[in-house]
Amino acid sequence: MAQATTDAGSLAALMASKEIAITCGSGGVGKTTTAAAAAAMAAAHLGGRVLVLTVDPARRLANALGLESFGNVERRVDKAAFEAAGVVPRGELWVAMLDTKQSWDDLVRRHAPDDATRDAILANPLYENITTRFVQGHDYIAMERLYDIHTAGKYDLVVVDTPPSRNALDFLDAPARMAEFFNSRLLRWLTVPYRSRMMTAASRPFYQMADRILGSQFLQDIAEFFILFQTMHDGFVQRARAVQRVLADKRTTFIVVSTLESSPLREAEFFIDALHERHLHLGAIVLNKVLPAYLLDPAAASAASVMEREAGAIGADLAPLLAAEPADLTRLVADVAASFHNYAVAATREAEQRTELAGAPEVVSVPQLGGELTDLAGVLDLGQHLWRPR
Ligand SMILES: Nc1ncnc2c1ncn2[C@@H]1O[C@H](COP(=O)(O)OP(=O)(O)OP(=O)(O)O)[C@@H](O)[C@H]1O
Ligand SMILES: [Mg+2]
Repeated sequence: MAQATTDAGSLAALMASKEIAITCGSGGVGKTTTAAAAAAMAAAHLGGRVLVLTVDPARRLANALGLESFGNVERRVDKAAFEAAGVVPRGELWVAMLDTKQSWDDLVRRHAPDDATRDAILANPLYENITTRFVQGHDYIAMERLYDIHTAGKYDLVVVDTPPSRNALDFLDAPARMAEFFNSRLLRWLTVPYRSRMMTAASRPFYQMADRILGSQFLQDIAEFFILFQTMHDGFVQRARAVQRVLADKRTTFIVVSTLESSPLREAEFFIDALHERHLHLGAIVLNKVLPAYLLDPAAASAASVMEREAGAIGADLAPLLAAEPADLTRLVADVAASFHNYAVAATREAEQRTELAGAPEVVSVPQLGGELTDLAGVLDLGQHLWRPR
């Protein structure tokens, strides 16, 4: 296992005091991995029932948790998987994936005013296409599902992984956008062909052209869909507001994940500001895949300097031991020492970037670990870096 970084904080206290933790950050930085590792650590060491709600079609993650697969329905990670990792868990780890289609269906079933409307919406040929595409349907439904799970009260802690959004703010604003959409002009426009054959002079050319290009059945389907959708207005708007309240609640915390590369880091800073603006609670920043702390050790640096200076002598000493040419070994020793110095420069730069983030409630560093996470032991191994006692 890679050595730990020196100035790491911990997620332990945060996870012990919250009911919802949402990992967010730019693409590929380790949101899903962090969510899984933090949830596994919470289940192992804090106890209670912990759910990780992921958005990835995470077959690899499923395998790492000892499951064949998992979907919208929550599944418990077998206690035996913890025991195989040498841990006796204090609590239970559950896992579920966001199935957008299934979740929309559930939502429609809940809000439709009657069975006929419900069936008409679900049978509308455009229903699936529209719900997965419009107003960040995916982001909205992720928050909606979270609300559902939270209010059911089955779990002590829900750790939520967020989609790799083009814009990391999308899911924060999705509930508000959904509420806005129901009152929007766009929605009125979309429903015109259904509501009235007597269109205004201004809109007629648009619909005539749309009719020619898309076919009138298509426009009718769209209009019908949104007319039906409007019947769910009150429930939806109320719900969107409730979801927003849960996001802003003190028991909900956001964990911003980033690597120390400039682009994800910029996005992380932007995201942190956005959380503040929206009065949402930033609990921690996880700096993932950082260089190990021994690169900052002055003793290691002076050893590398000696290696560089004495490469010839070291190469000659090692030659009989390794049955290799002294000249080759000399070059190798010099290269290793030079690489160490290069990495040390990069690690120093990373350390400076970390201090710039000081002021965040908790900054946790996780080193780049070798290989893929293939089992729960690997997930917990990574989790150790999130969890160290202060
Ligand atoms: N500390 C680490 N050391 C080594 N590999 C890591 C580490 N953290 C994450 N990874 C690996 O990096 C890859 C991306 O991680 P992950 O899927 O968690 O990122 P993500 O932010 O959820 O990505 P996306 O935005 O695509 O959802 C995965 O292959 C994961 O196993
Ligand atoms: Mg992910």
